[in-house]
Amino acid sequence: MTETTFTPRVFSGIQPSGGLTLGNYLGAIKRFVDMQGDTFETIYCMVDLHAITVWQNPADLIHNTRELCAGFIAAGIDPEKSILINQSQVPEHAQLGWIFNCVARMGWMQRMTQFKDKAGKNAQNASLGLFGYPALMAADILVYHATHVPVGEDQKQHLELTRDIAAKFNPDYGVDFFPMTEPVIEGAATRVMSLRDGSKKMSKSDPSDASRINMTDDADAIARKIRKAKTDPDALPSEVKGLEGRPEARNLINIYAALSDQSVDQVLAEVGGKQFGAFKPMLAELAVSKLGPISSEMARLMNDPAEIDRILSRGSLRAREITAPILRKTYDIVGMVAPV
Ligand code: TYM
Repeated sequence: MTETTFTPRVFSGIQPSGGLTLGNYLGAIKRFVDMQGDTFETIYCMVDLHAITVWQNPADLIHNTRELCAGFIAAGIDPEKSILINQSQVPEHAQLGWIFNCVARMGWMQRMTQFKDKAGKNAQNASLGLFGYPALMAADILVYHATHVPVGEDQKQHLELTRDIAAKFNPDYGVDFFPMTEPVIEGAATRVMSLRDGSKKMSKSDPSDASRINMTDDADAIARKIRKAKTDPDALPSEVKGLEGRPEARNLINIYAALSDQSVDQVLAEVGGKQFGAFKPMLAELAVSKLGPISSEMARLMNDPAEIDRILSRGSLRAREITAPILRKTYDIVGMVAPV
């Protein structure tokens, strides 16, 4: 079979389940902005259908979807250059998701660590949607024939499943239809850790608000959380190997590197030898200078929710120009009678 060439296209999504963190910003949104340009067509999605795999208050879900959209735009996603959508307005995601439910195997799904983490001890009471979630995620990506997906480290296994689904669908039906999507997990901050415990991921669901920086935190809150961040008593090293066994130090350095668009080596060359007492104010100042303008722009955009809704409707029309033909072709491949 001849290799099909696919348009270079980026897709990624974030759950509108409330409270964007510095982890979401550095691991995802900032990198979405970097990928916007001439090389790729870019599509960014508020995955509202994913969010309801765990209970969401309806009024909060609407608010959080708009706020996430405001966050994308405030951080530099241009709704003209990129397609911005909420998932439920592009029905082909869920439609292809069903096909993929029939391609993915139970054994593959049972290996998903995120389901185990999220369902916890109470797996029997988790929703069926939470279990099937990664097949819908594969559909989000493949309904655009996306070639590249920027995400944080925690999504790696889901992207492997996406490739497994494409790698089963294509030969099952004797086609070369879905691409082998490349995960793009790059940069210093692919896994931002909790400020209170360097072995745990920074997460909006952590009960301690001091463990994370929220995109809506004001300058005082950011500075306070960084001042109180857990550290060790030693000075910062000048080389990367000096960070071994020092997860909290590594995390703060990674955050500094990602916020300042430098490599970890460059940062250590600058701050090596300093005590945390001197480094933390530098980090706080940098974080406030980068995040402050984003959070105030988010608040400004949230004053006009109708404009956000218009952006999302326009985005869905553009998205469906891509997704409707890909879904129809999938149905043809699978053997679904088409309308005449
Ligand atoms: P979600 O909403 O949990 O997270 C959104 C993005 O933020 C990244 N991220 C982090 N990166 C670094 N450090 C952290 N502490 C951190 N916390 C979160 C995540 O890796 C992710 O990139 N299943 C996805 C949403 C999704 C999706 C998709 C992503 C649905 N369909 C299709 C890509 C393509 C999720 O729950 O992400």
